[in-house]
Amino acid sequence: MSKLYEKYQLKNVTLRNRIVMAPMCMFCSDEDGMAKDWHYIHYTSRAIGGVGLIIMEATGVENRGRISARDLGLWKDEQIEGLKKIVDACHAYGAKVGIQLAHAGRKSEVLAEQCIAPSPIAFSENYRTPREISLEEIHTVAAAFAAAARRADQAGFDVIEIHGAHGYLISEFLSPLTNQRSDEYGGSLENRARFLKEVLQEVKKTWPKEKPIIVRVSAEDFAEGGNHAEDMARIINYLKPEGIDLINVSSGGVVNVIPKAYPGYQVTYAETIKRETALPVITGGLISSPQMAEEILQNGRADLVFLGRELLRNPYWPLLAAKEVRDNIDWPAQYERGKQ
Ligand SMILES: Cc1cc2nc3c(=O)[nH]c(=O)nc-3n(C[C@H](O)[C@H](O)[C@H](O)COP(=O)(O)O)c2cc1C
Repeated sequence: MSKLYEKYQLKNVTLRNRIVMAPMCMFCSDEDGMAKDWHYIHYTSRAIGGVGLIIMEATGVENRGRISARDLGLWKDEQIEGLKKIVDACHAYGAKVGIQLAHAGRKSEVLAEQCIAPSPIAFSENYRTPREISLEEIHTVAAAFAAAARRADQAGFDVIEIHGAHGYLISEFLSPLTNQRSDEYGGSLENRARFLKEVLQEVKKTWPKEKPIIVRVSAEDFAEGGNHAEDMARIINYLKPEGIDLINVSSGGVVNVIPKAYPGYQVTYAETIKRETALPVITGGLISSPQMAEEILQNGRADLVFLGRELLRNPYWPLLAAKEVRDNIDWPAQYERGKQ
């Protein structure tokens, strides 16, 4: 029995294996942030393909919090139904489903809205200069995360992932490079973490206790004066009492630097976060070989492995990879003839 296909229990959620589909924007929703046929077919195919946990793409908790005007949204009740249809279908094919709740902050390209950030600094010359978010708005946005979490529960999602990575709003608060506030939301580690703390506290009011909360972080800013894995571990340790069940370890996106990426380039960050916080972690980044995923899990470097682009190339990766790690899993009955 391989580790990749060993079940994984997180609160009341049992995953059939350790394979996680990374959240990936499909940029094919509409002005209203509604789920489309594409989303239904795309996610259901990965459930049929054997993924253990599908984390649906960055979904705006406010319209101005969407990365693009074609991202999914969960800021109004009308958006629940389309997502519920996807969740029900994925459940029917054995996958558990999460949704990434996001606010794009200064990187929002929704032109109909003004973008906001902890400090009025543009990401690059190709981006707008954001307006500094007021204290009152900080509470409004935290409440928007909670309202979206309530809707996610109504849609039947098994887990939520709070998007705290890649230089979007939460990540902008966490990094000293983007947060230059002089009030209680900027400066010290505790102050920079205060917004995420508030988001978690608000979300817990609407998201059921028995369902897990994942936080995705950028463990490395790739710039002097930015956060590194040890800093992020300290931030997570500070926030742990608020109820984080799993950390999805990513990196970058905070400032305009392209990191040197190679298969497994984020695994050491995940190891640091796991060791320093004692929380389970998901790792990934350019992973496409089943043997590499198996090595990471067998050596206890992470608890789960995410795949992004590999699952865009091949939705059936989990069905095919089992043979590579000398495991034998059930295929959907309809595809049994193709297993030989
Ligand atoms: C098309 C595309 C869209 C993405 N959208 C998101 C997103 O919505 N949220 C997020 O946290 N990361 C997003 N990412 C990053 C992926 O989740 C993942 O971390 C990254 O692609 C590295 O993993 P990979 O090498 O297996 O693709 C996106 C990546 C791609 C390729």
